Amino acid sequence: MRIGMLTGGGDCPGLNAVIRAVVTKGEGIYGHEIIGFRHGWRGLIEDETMELSVTSVRSLARRGGTVLGTARTNPFKTEDGVARILDTLKRQRIDALIAIGGEDTLGVAAKLGEVGVNCVGVPKTIDNDLSGTDYTFGFQTAVQIATEAIDRLHTTAESHDRVMIAEVMGRHAGWIALHTGIASEADVILVPEEPFDIDEVCARIHHHHATGANYSIVVVAEGAVPQEGTMTLQAGGVDDFGHVRLGGIGAALQGEIESRTGFETRVTILGHILRGGTPTAYDRVLGTRFGITAIDAVEQGRFGTMVALRGEHIEIVDIHEGVDVLKTVDRDLLDVAAVFT
Ligand code: F6P
Repeated sequence: MRIGMLTGGGDCPGLNAVIRAVVTKGEGIYGHEIIGFRHGWRGLIEDETMELSVTSVRSLARRGGTVLGTARTNPFKTEDGVARILDTLKRQRIDALIAIGGEDTLGVAAKLGEVGVNCVGVPKTIDNDLSGTDYTFGFQTAVQIATEAIDRLHTTAESHDRVMIAEVMGRHAGWIALHTGIASEADVILVPEEPFDIDEVCARIHHHHATGANYSIVVVAEGAVPQEGTMTLQAGGVDDFGHVRLGGIGAALQGEIESRTGFETRVTILGHILRGGTPTAYDRVLGTRFGITAIDAVEQGRFGTMVALRGEHIEIVDIHEGVDVLKTVDRDLLDVAAVFT
């Protein structure tokens, strides 16, 4: 078989581990040819390929980013996008496609499945907001990096008697903010799922300082929103999938908290730092296991599926389980955080 592979959406630590696993088992054990497509769906539209072999993917598990490159191109929003993809697949004699990505990339794979393309998805996002799988790779690395950064913010906040805000990624779901906030002993955690009341946030900080603390740590997800009419925010542009470019809630909070509480306040936007660099051992292993099961799914002809972590096991599930509903944070975890915030 000739199998195409692409990585779409934001990059994510662990992508190269998936690529290495697919090629090593696909070529080395099953004897298939694996053809890389550059920059997500754009590579299929433009017929931009990259040679992959067991030799070329050696040592990739440790490397961050994606050697295939990535983009947020939506073929369903590009003129003749789908027709051009079908042409490329024919020209390249591709029998099956492994799409590694988040809700958008896998959503496109699901739709291409409806027009006869043999697709297997691999769920990827640092945000961990994909349903159907307990965790996505990249998430654990993001939480680790954010926690280490906030550990550092604690000492400078303490030295200056300041409120320190750390803004982390998380467009629609607060998984990174919640895990990081719990791990880094934050005093306030704000997530997109629960619009916040700025008066309550400031009251919490006041209470914290009135009961012996000389500084506070606030962790805010970039997609967190104030309750309607309580604070004004600036809107950013949108991408091909209609997602607003975020970033700015931390800065807005800085002004509000400082003026309302009188405590000197600073903000650090961790942003893309959470996505860059080497994956943790956990994400290398999860990415590797996903890649191995994805190539097994292709070998078994199980198309229209994605691989998923269920408890201790990697399973092959319907791709719609991953893309139809966004996975927002658990009530249980919010309750754990509420004890400390
Ligand atoms: O892929 C998800 C994500 O990490 C979001 O948390 C964030 O809003 C977005 O990517 C940023 O993407 P970009 O790098 O395209 O600005």
